[in-house]
Amino acid sequence: MPVTQSTVRVISHLDRDYLRQALEHDVTAGLTSSPKWLPPKWFYDAAGSDLFSRITRLPEYYPTRRELTILRARAADLAAVSRADTLVELGSGTSEKTGLLLDALSAAGTLRGYTPVDVDAVTLEAAAHRLAGRYPGLTVQAVCADFERHLALLPRNGRRMVAFLGGTIGNLEPAARAVFLKELRATLRSGDTFLLGADLVKERGRLVAAYDDSAGVTAEFNRNVLRVINRELDADFEPESFEHVAVYDERHDWIEMRLRASRAMRVRVGGLGLSVSFEEGEEMRTEISAKFREDGLRGELAAAGFGVRRHYTDPEGDFALVLAEA
Ligand code: SAH
Ligand code: AVI
Repeated sequence: MPVTQSTVRVISHLDRDYLRQALEHDVTAGLTSSPKWLPPKWFYDAAGSDLFSRITRLPEYYPTRRELTILRARAADLAAVSRADTLVELGSGTSEKTGLLLDALSAAGTLRGYTPVDVDAVTLEAAAHRLAGRYPGLTVQAVCADFERHLALLPRNGRRMVAFLGGTIGNLEPAARAVFLKELRATLRSGDTFLLGADLVKERGRLVAAYDDSAGVTAEFNRNVLRVINRELDADFEPESFEHVAVYDERHDWIEMRLRASRAMRVRVGGLGLSVSFEEGEEMRTEISAKFREDGLRGELAAAGFGVRRHYTDPEGDFALVLAEA
């Protein structure tokens, strides 16, 4: 029997002009605010995605392993309940966990398409080709896009399961999260489902260790945003002059990553004609990573018009995987 070829198509909503304008906007807004901040999506150039992959293998960083445990146990059930033929994955990165879902959909006999969506074009294309090679006949439509801007432009063919794994939902501010969930809900049709991975509230020590590992990989990941700004906007940040800081904010139930200036300095962002000064010890927020409770998750999903069909956790209760429907 001839083997059916897979097809790979790559669509981009992030051309160089768009990316440049979005980065200019964010860096101007963040560096001229008090306190200063930078949004986490700019961590992820090819080097940043690689550093994130290394984070997922660190002993302290439990979320990836916990989510994998849940997926191994529940992927067949998720495939049976969703009856999806197309898996759309937001913030897919290296798509390392995706094989478990694709295997289950394939075993259920429904799998036809996979649509990974990510801001990092290099990692996205590599993952798209790797998975196309593994599933003969699979139609892979990779979309380079910003899931905070381009949800309405994603392909809508098939009966879709939209997966948002890894706890990336926690990197959105609460207000942005509510907007994201409503916008996603508006793009789903009857029969489509939403698979959401979310990290759960737990003891502070484990949370802080997961974001401040002893090998310093998360620190390098954090500083990578400065390297991206240096390269793309002709800035002269000295990444080594910023210390990595990870604190758990119990009032908001989120980890905050910051970069702390180890001395007073002036930084020039040539591409913006901007010069900013940092005081010694000044901290700039680069990421929040919110941690959830079951009732909070259900409430946020309900507020956006989703009903929960399945709510799983790993045996330790560290991480949740929720299948919701419109
Ligand atoms: N889903 C994978 C990767 C998580 S890392 C996992 O669970 O391990 C977060 C991923 O989301 C990165 O690949 C990053 O490039 C992507 N990302 C971050 N912000 C994004 C945005 N606004 N739009 C699209 N992708 C984004
Ligand atoms: C992608 N995201 C879910 C990661 C997290 O855990 O919030 C990003 C990360 N930041 C530091 N370590 C990992």
